[in-house]
Formats: sequence, C-alpha cells, structure tokens
Amino acid sequence: MDLVDLEAEAKSKIEETFYDYIAGGAEDELTLDDNEAAWSRLKLRPRVLRDVRTIDTSTTVLGRRVASPVAVAPMAMQHKANEDGPVATARGCAATDTLFCMGLFGAGSAKDVAAVPGDAPKWLQVYVMADRERSVEAIARSADQGYHAVVITVDVARQGNRRRDARNRWTFLQADGQVEDPNELFDHALTFDDIAWFVERSPIPLVVKGVMRGDDARACVDAGAAGVVVSNHGGRQLDGALATADALADVVEGVEGRGEVYVDGGIRRGQHAVKALAMGAQAVFVGRPAMWGLIVAGQPGVEGVMRGFQDEVERAMALCGARTIEELDASLLVRSGSAGA
Ligand code: FNR
Ligand code: LAC
Repeated sequence: MDLVDLEAEAKSKIEETFYDYIAGGAEDELTLDDNEAAWSRLKLRPRVLRDVRTIDTSTTVLGRRVASPVAVAPMAMQHKANEDGPVATARGCAATDTLFCMGLFGAGSAKDVAAVPGDAPKWLQVYVMADRERSVEAIARSADQGYHAVVITVDVARQGNRRRDARNRWTFLQADGQVEDPNELFDHALTFDDIAWFVERSPIPLVVKGVMRGDDARACVDAGAAGVVVSNHGGRQLDGALATADALADVVEGVEGRGEVYVDGGIRRGQHAVKALAMGAQAVFVGRPAMWGLIVAGQPGVEGVMRGFQDEVERAMALCGARTIEELDASLLVRSGSAGA
C-alpha cells in the first residue's frame, strides 16, 4: 500500500480547492504534521520466537466483531469525492469487514449508508446543531436505520481557521447543494451535562469524539458515554494541539477501562495502529487515506486502503511476536526515558 502515491493520484483527479479542503489543517498546520510524526516517533520493542504462523487481526468494537482494528472516520463532502458518496465508502468497509463511521454533516444519506449490507458494524456521527432537534431526530432514527453507535463530535466550538480554505474561498456544500456555515449551525454551549442528556435519548451506545485529555475522557464516561475517540480532528481545528499519539496514554488512564478508547489522526501505517493498540486503544480510525481511496476508485479504492492497512497490521503483529490483538500490550512500546526512547 502506497498512500503517498494514492494521495497524488487523488489530487490529480479533483479540483485544487477540494484537495486543499481535504488535505489541509488549521493555521500553520503544526498539529496536522505532528499527528503523523508522533506515531513515527514512538518505537516498538518487538518480541521474537513466538510461532507467528497464524495472526488474527480481528477484534471487537463495542462488542461487535471486525476483521481489523482499523476503521474509517466520519468525513463530510464524500458526495463530492465519488458519485455514490459515503455509500461507496460503506461498501468498501463492508467488503473488508471493517467499521465505517458515517458523518451526517454534508456527506450523504444516513439511511442509504445504513442499508449497505454486511456484518460489519456502522456508526453514525452527528454534530450537535444549534437547532438541537435536528441532532435528536438523527439519533432517534439511528438504531432503526441499523446503526450500532452514535458518535458526537465535540471539538468544533469554533470552526478551525483553515488558511487554505480561506484563500480558496472554499464553501461548504451539503449533498443537496445547500451552502452551510458550520460556525452558524453548531451549538457552542455544549457541556458534559449535554452528553448525559444525549446518552439518555440515544437508543444505542454513544461515543464522544474529539477528546484529548484524561480528565475530560473520565467526565465523558461519567456522563454515560460508552467510549471516546482521541482526536484533534486531523489537525483541522486547534492548531498547536498535541498529537493524538501523545494524548492517548493520558486518556486511557483517565477512562480506567470503564469505556472503550479509540484514536485517529495521522495513522498512515499498520505499525501506527499497532502502537495505538499497544497503548490501550480498542481500535483506530483513518480519515484522509479512505478519502483518497474513494476519490481514486470508489468502493474498490476504499477496499484497497482497508486491506492495505489490515495487511500491514498483520505483518507488524507477526514481527512483534503478537498473534492476537490481546497480545499487543504496553511492553511492546519503548517508554519515554528508557533505552532507545
Ligand atoms: C473530517 N473530520 C470530520 N470529523 C467529524 O467528526 N465530522 C465530520 O464531518 C468530519 N469531516 C471531515 C472531513 C474531511 C475532509 C476530513 C479530512 C476530516 C475529521 C475525521 O473524522 C478524523 O478525525 C480525521 O480525519 C483523522 O485524521 P486523519 O486520519 O485524516 O489524519
Ligand atoms: C471538517 C468538518 C466538517 O473537518 O468537520 O471539514
């Protein structure tokens, strides 16, 4: 799998302004760049001589089996990436038995995505809108539609200052062609009490996305969340925020096993995912790599990316002497301050 080539090919197929919207981050893109660099900075301490003829990369997310711990993150504007939009992404995930998180905002129809057949779970990401009923209705419908969890994204108290988009006069288009301004639409008054309020109204488990600290993560599970996604929105919101690889350990500690912890941001190799799992993540999400696959080849493109990640996870696990996901433990990571760190 060569994600660098894939991105280049995707770039050649779309308008420069759309490419900038996907690839770009906030302000000086420090967090965007650091997300990937931080995974690479971490070092593995591989085990040898463990009879690794067979490796099982499968795991569970909120109790449901997936073939691989790599999932696709919610992303807007998929309707502009491919004519089938997020339905193609969902099919790519279904074909590889991996988790797809549908983004409700400007991506396509939640109902059509939910109708894609397959055993792999599907989650629905919602923003809390200033018009709260819109979010409540989407959450209420989610279970009947066939979603297995709801994800509320909480790192959008203001829309990130994306300089490429400002330069390009990029406008946010919904699938129906309507222009939207996230700053106007989203509820900026959210607190942990609102998380508890939504948990009460959600027929399925609720996951909070965009948590970067152990104390916040603990407050989310106290409010009834089933899990948290450690995320800085792929470096698109607060520039200068720490990389998710550097935030994960604190969040795992804060949650104390009372919920599942997932992470996204800059995961571009199977070995990055292996490091996240060794630190205590239940699964990881990838954003842009799936978007490049979708742009280049639709469903088979997404499928190729997800198979590529699974192959790399399998190889990295074998080379670490880990036969199952459970065997990916903290001892596989070099602790900061110890030899080789
Ligand atoms: C996003 N992300 C995002 N997150 C979310 O909760 N709702 C959304 O609608 C979107 N939209 C979106 C669009 C695009 C084009 C990108 C690139 C990202 C953030 C996404 O879910 C995820 O957190 C990051 O993309 C993960 O980082 P990587 O893998 O892209 O580095
Ligand atoms: C983005 C918003 C839609 O990152 O979350 O573009």
